[in-house]
Amino acid sequence: MNIPTGSPAGHQRADEQSQGGLRAHAPDRLRIGAAVAGYGRTATTMPLLTAARYRQVLAAEFSSLTPENQTKWEWLQPAPGEFDFAAADAIVDFAAEHGQHVRGHTLLWHNQNPGWITGGDHSPEELRRLLRTHIQTVVGRYAGRIQHWDVVNEILDDDGRLRTEQNPWLGALGPEIIADAFTWAHDADPDALLFGNDFDVERHGAKSDAWYALLRDLRSQGVPVHGFGVQGHLDMSAPFPEDLPQNLKRFADLGLRTAITELDVRGPVTGEGGLSEEHLDQQADWYARITRIALDVPGCESLTPWGVLDEQSWVPGWFPGTGGALLLHGDYQPKPAYHAVREALAAGGQRPTA
Ligand code: XIL
Repeated sequence: MNIPTGSPAGHQRADEQSQGGLRAHAPDRLRIGAAVAGYGRTATTMPLLTAARYRQVLAAEFSSLTPENQTKWEWLQPAPGEFDFAAADAIVDFAAEHGQHVRGHTLLWHNQNPGWITGGDHSPEELRRLLRTHIQTVVGRYAGRIQHWDVVNEILDDDGRLRTEQNPWLGALGPEIIADAFTWAHDADPDALLFGNDFDVERHGAKSDAWYALLRDLRSQGVPVHGFGVQGHLDMSAPFPEDLPQNLKRFADLGLRTAITELDVRGPVTGEGGLSEEHLDQQADWYARITRIALDVPGCESLTPWGVLDEQSWVPGWFPGTGGALLLHGDYQPKPAYHAVREALAAGGQRPTA
């Protein structure tokens, strides 16, 4: 490539990367994201702050970032009324510096609430006040800098019922708290796009049907909800979600945006801890198909793998015996899936959806 003479070395490098990364191959309407890894519960343990290569890859490849953990309740408000924004700030600042959007994740969820919430003895009124204050504080702080929020996450069971037993917010406050959460987030940042998000909703079925009905009802009541996020934690031992395009499209027909928010494609790991050649090829095919679907379905605005490097993925810890679910090996070498996504983006959704 031609590098203009006189441009500082740092800019030359950034130019080269942005011309080659996934983000450079995607059309403007589709952001390519990544979850930003965070371990422990402090900013200092984040590879974003400790690994130069990680920063370089994150900047070059992706146009959207989702904090993997750092905007969850337990990180943001570890003690009552004591907010710790260090880790989230680092991600948001990085994103602003590199022209990336941020998907905030998440405000109302059954997991990763701090112990003082789950083990506390709060009245429903207190819980409601705590949730409202949290949403107002966090969404307000990042107004204009976090463009999307997963306001409610995983609030439905497989059969489509509300997860009231596991979810401390829904359990104490009932289904009405869903509309309140969206309204509080909207009041705190009227420009933020507000999503519901869940897993196992790629296909038509009881759970995605219940989400469809819920979001349709919320919209008809005038609740500020703007999108539906399909996580996309896929397992190659199960069938590919063939009807994903039709499923996404029905949400678009409600006037909602859609996003694939947490894509990973796991398979059985070999003795060396990676995937077999065969599974690497199958994985590449699945990633390419998902990418083409994201390109082809109107209103699908982002595609986010749930991490960057296989060795940092949540998958082996949560689904023992499986792994290798992301686009890059632990040494930053691209996998066949990386090349497949890149080719699918470069083809620009010209090919018919598989
Ligand atoms: C996971 C993170 O990847 C892990 O680091 C953490 O220990 C648990 O949560 N659905 C979600 C994400 O909405 O927040 C989860 O992230 C993965 C499943």
